[in-house]
Amino acid sequence: MHLLSTKQIESSSQLENLFKLTEKVKRNGNLDFGKRILAIVKNEASTRTRVSFEVAMKMLGGDVVNIQLDNTTSLAKGETIEDTIRTIGEYVDAIVMRHSTKGMVQHCASHSPVPTINAGDGEGEHPTQALLDVYTIFKEIGRLDNLHVALVGDLKCSRTIHSLLHLLYLYPHNKFTFISPDSIKIPGEYLPEKHECLERTELSDTLKEIGMKVDVLYMTRFQKERYLRQEEVVGVVPSYYKLTQEDFDNLNPGCVVLHPLPRGEEIPIFFDSDPRAAYFRQVKNGMYVRMALLYNLFTKKDYFAKL
Ligand code: NCD
Repeated sequence: MHLLSTKQIESSSQLENLFKLTEKVKRNGNLDFGKRILAIVKNEASTRTRVSFEVAMKMLGGDVVNIQLDNTTSLAKGETIEDTIRTIGEYVDAIVMRHSTKGMVQHCASHSPVPTINAGDGEGEHPTQALLDVYTIFKEIGRLDNLHVALVGDLKCSRTIHSLLHLLYLYPHNKFTFISPDSIKIPGEYLPEKHECLERTELSDTLKEIGMKVDVLYMTRFQKERYLRQEEVVGVVPSYYKLTQEDFDNLNPGCVVLHPLPRGEEIPIFFDSDPRAAYFRQVKNGMYVRMALLYNLFTKKDYFAKL
């Protein structure tokens, strides 16, 4: 069973099952599924996703091989990516794959003999990040409905947001404010069908208007590596957002500020000690949520199985 998109998740009860197991994993570090091997295959940079998957496997008794899809593999000899994935799948129990081209992980999964998890496909999706994001919101705020969520930055290329939105659409009465320059706004395919939403281009003005009502402020960096034409980057970067002290003063004291990281300049370091800054707690949650996903996969063949 592959995990390629959050669209595979159809009900909030699947998430509740995952959260319960995540709590158990946190309390009881000695869960173990024996010697399973995970391959982490990627052609892009990664810190949190790679390290948390690797540590999660090792904490559960498994092991990891890391494969960078560069000229140290037989791709350099002209081997196809399909044959490369098929080959890796003959040696391991599951594959975590990140690729810079949207749709490539899904394509490779169809050639993989073992379960394959999408760890980010270009500007497409990043489902395990979205799962740790909703887990973090649930832990911090205590609910996943009736939330006002503001999403800020590069909404066009932020795959974590594309995956997160679908999960938040599973819950009633959530409201969304999308804040981004026009040129990098949220693609129509990710807009809600049933939930209320606003689109804004000004960060500070919008926070003056709605900041006190926001429950979750989800920040993202500008994904400059995804904009191939230089003039596109030059046009966007100067208007990229940086939160200021005044913006924080206009922000609900009870909200949480999330960021998938890495950050650029959008969140100043001085904010890290504010209790609303939840992004490093979010990092830590990622390891536990991935442990729960892997445990379910290897013991029940279902990422969202009931405890
Ligand atoms: C994100 C990603 O790779 O999509 N990082 C992550 O996995 N935590 C966000 C980003 O690169 O900006």
